Amino acid sequence: MGTCGRSRYEEKHAAVARGNLAAAGVADRVTVLVGPGVEVLPIIADKGPFDAVFIDADKVNYHVYGAWAVKHLRPGGLVLGDNAYLFGELMEDSDRGRAMRAFHELVAATCDSVCAPTPDGLVVGIKR
Ligand SMILES: C[S@@+](CC[C@H](N)C(=O)[O-])C[C@H]1O[C@@H](n2cnc3c(N)ncnc32)[C@H](O)[C@@H]1O
Repeated sequence: MGTCGRSRYEEKHAAVARGNLAAAGVADRVTVLVGPGVEVLPIIADKGPFDAVFIDADKVNYHVYGAWAVKHLRPGGLVLGDNAYLFGELMEDSDRGRAMRAFHELVAATCDSVCAPTPDGLVVGIKR
């Protein structure tokens, strides 16, 4: 388990995840890494290529997470990005808006993709 940048807040959520994994009987097959995504992702980079990456963390880094996903997914691998409409702020001139638009553009350029019209949008991409 990674511990970089751990805060009590993150640990609280990780404890819930561990409890759910144990209740599902898969705790022995899952590793929970706690910390900022930009610090944790390098820890698992050499475990790839990955079958799927689900992105649902801080929106200002979606372009970073998206680039990491495309780099480390196998061809045919799945990338999912929640909150793709950015709570109605997708077109705003903000760091978050620019990051989310860059994420959309990256997935469209590298994957067969769609933005599913869930209440806040879900990008679904299959890496080419
Ligand atoms: C919307 S919740 C995700 C919920 C989760 N996908 C689920 O279905 O239970 C967003 C999560 O991203 C985490 N988060 C926020 N900023 C982060 C960062 N820089 N690195 C990693 N995780 C972050 C928050 O602590 C929070 O747990």
